[in-house]
Amino acid sequence: MPEDPVVELRELVDNLSDWLRYQRRLGWRGLPGQVAAPPKKPVEPEEKVPTLEEIRAEMGDCRRCKLYAGRTHLVFGDGAADARLMFVGEAPGADEDQQGLPFVGAAGGLLNNLLSKLGLRREEVYIANIVKSRPPGNRDPEADEIAACLPFLKKQIQAIRPRVIVILGRIAAHALLGTKEPLTRLRGHWQRYGDIRVMPTFHPSYLLRAPQERHKTWADMQQVMEYLADHEED
Ligand code: URA
Repeated sequence: MPEDPVVELRELVDNLSDWLRYQRRLGWRGLPGQVAAPPKKPVEPEEKVPTLEEIRAEMGDCRRCKLYAGRTHLVFGDGAADARLMFVGEAPGADEDQQGLPFVGAAGGLLNNLLSKLGLRREEVYIANIVKSRPPGNRDPEADEIAACLPFLKKQIQAIRPRVIVILGRIAAHALLGTKEPLTRLRGHWQRYGDIRVMPTFHPSYLLRAPQERHKTWADMQQVMEYLADHEED
C-alpha cells in the first residue's frame, strides 16, 4: 500500500536535509551545478594624477643626470595646464637656460610666429621639452639623460591630457614615440602616444636653417588645426 504522499514528502525532505548537513560537514558548499562566486577583489584606490605643480616639486633641484652641473635654470615647461595642444621639443638652449622658459631664443621666435599665424596664443598651448636641463654646447641629449627626464614629461602629459601633441624634431620624436624611424618619414603622419594623437614635424631650429621646408610644417599644422576644430567638444 502506498503511504500518505504528504508523509512521504516530509520524509524525503528530512532525508535530504540530513544529507545536506552531512555533505557540508565534509566541506562541500553549494548545490551540484552551482558555480561558486569568485572571491571579491579588493577595490583598488584610483591612482591620483599629480598636478603640474606637484610634478615640478618632485623634480626639485634635479640631479638625476649629469646635466644639472652646467645648468642655470631647469626648464620645466610653460603654458596652460589644460591645453588642448602641446608642443614637445628637445632640450633647452642657452636662452632657455638663462630664462628658465622653453623656446624663448631664435627657435622660439619662429615657433611664436607659427602660433600667431595659426591664430593661437602661446598662453593657450603648453610647451615642454624631453630634457629639462641644457646639454653643454647644445649637443644632443644622451640616452641616460633622456631616460632620467622622460618620466617627468610623461607625467606632464598625463596632467595636461592634451588632445594633440606636436613633436618638434627627430630627437623628441624618437624619445617620446620609442621609434628610430627617420623624421622625414614620421612627419605629416598621425602617430599615437597612448590615446593622444601625435603629429611629428620639423624642429624650428632646423627650419631656421632650411626655410624652404617651412611649408611642410605649415601643412602638418593644418592637419592638427583641422583635427582640433573637428573635436571642439572633446
Ligand atoms: N630647442 C628646444 O628643443 N627646446 C627649447 O626649449 C629651445 C630650443
